[in-house]
Amino acid sequence: MKLKTLILAAGKGTRMKSELPKVIHRVNGIPMIEKIITICKNIGVEENILILGHKKETILEVVGDIPYVVQEEQLGTGHAIMQASELLKDYNGDIMVLCGDTPLLKESTLKEMYKQHKDSNATTTILTAICENPFGYGRIVKSEGKVVGIVEEKEASEAVKKIREINAGVYCFKSKDLFDALSKIDNNNEKGEYYLTDVIGINVKEGKLVECYTLEENIETLGVNSKVELAMASETLRERKNTALMDAGVIFIDPRNTYIEESVEVGQDTIIYPGVILQGNTKIGSNCEIIGNTRIVDSIISNSVKIESSVIESSVVEDRVTIGPFAHLRPKAHLKEDVHVGNFVEIKKSTLEKGVKAGHLTYLGDATIGEKTNIGAGTITCNYDGKNKFKTIIGKNSFIGSDSMLVAPVEIGDNSLVGAGSVITKDVPSNALAVSRSKQVIKFDWRK
Ligand code: UD1
Ligand code: CA
Repeated sequence: MKLKTLILAAGKGTRMKSELPKVIHRVNGIPMIEKIITICKNIGVEENILILGHKKETILEVVGDIPYVVQEEQLGTGHAIMQASELLKDYNGDIMVLCGDTPLLKESTLKEMYKQHKDSNATTTILTAICENPFGYGRIVKSEGKVVGIVEEKEASEAVKKIREINAGVYCFKSKDLFDALSKIDNNNEKGEYYLTDVIGINVKEGKLVECYTLEENIETLGVNSKVELAMASETLRERKNTALMDAGVIFIDPRNTYIEESVEVGQDTIIYPGVILQGNTKIGSNCEIIGNTRIVDSIISNSVKIESSVIESSVVEDRVTIGPFAHLRPKAHLKEDVHVGNFVEIKKSTLEKGVKAGHLTYLGDATIGEKTNIGAGTITCNYDGKNKFKTIIGKNSFIGSDSMLVAPVEIGDNSLVGAGSVITKDVPSNALAVSRSKQVIKFDWRK
């Protein structure tokens, strides 16, 4: 494919009212600019080039290593594209221009638009949409069905303002013709900017063919200029994601109140209740139930797992585990098959082997706990001495009595029992009983 893209992302985005550059604001979890780059990569263009200016370092931190040119001063979209003329002076193919702030575009749209551009042999093809409310967009002005130019909102007469066909800000150009026309535009307009859209008028005057590729579903062309539009874009992406998951067999109780980021996978017949947030590289198996205000980020959850009102970060959870309500798995918790973790239990960097139960009010950090061991209510691994972290190792089939403090580093064997209320500072061998608490004293008739 002899096609490169230029992605506009140098503008200030004043209407966003934000310290951050506009294009790194996230839509359903993904920075807008990254979303656009991914779409372009997926349609197979040979190179994506960003046009950066305002806070370019911040944007580069997000997108990583990708070719870009710099627009030092933001003098308009036409001026922005001109900055790439040197880089592309020997390039003879097509250029697709996109804006970093239109995250709802679909791959299929860009593919079909480019196909039409090739088939028609047009100099320029504009992506347009018919809008109920065209306010703010450039209007496509036509005469006898043919494009004659694009007029920006600020320049529009009352008659032009009534035109409902808008410029989506995506174009296919023949590279040479684009840069040739750009050398002829000026900034004699309301904003005093060099408008890329003026290229169209020049094309037409020179008798070149300009075509539109017009969309039915016009939400796709939404340009995010404000926080309201940012929320609208996120909502649409969530809707698309949830629909795709339902099509693949996931059950939603209330899809409008379920927040699942693009990168998340969920298996068949898993039931997702309202209030659930699934983020990052999270993978959930089949036949699970995710209930209540649960947030799961960057975690792997296997099959038939039940989770209620809990937070799970960077953890692995195997088949038939039950979690919550109100549990917190912090990074590197690994819960093997049939584990149960209940109310107010926090687990960090610990492995719980098959069938371990920690039902209530417990902190397990830097610990390994053997198969079928029971962790009593209120058990705490004291893993931190103020300076360093230490490990707690517990064998299988052991029983840790309620309110035990396990002062790490410490090791407890298999089949052992720790008496309730103990502070364990020394290793406990297998098959032993360890108790460390003061003897109960009774003073008869003391109240008198
Ligand atoms: C632009 C179009 C308008 C179209 C709309 C679609 C022009 C003149 N107008 O208007 O016809 O309907 O997009 O969403 O092109 N940018 C730069 N450098 C600049 C100015 C802008 O890189 O000097 C970038 C911005 O970062 C942004 C994109 O270009 O990603 C579009 O700029 P924006 O100010 O949002 O243009 P609109 O007013 O929305
Ligand atoms: Ca815009």
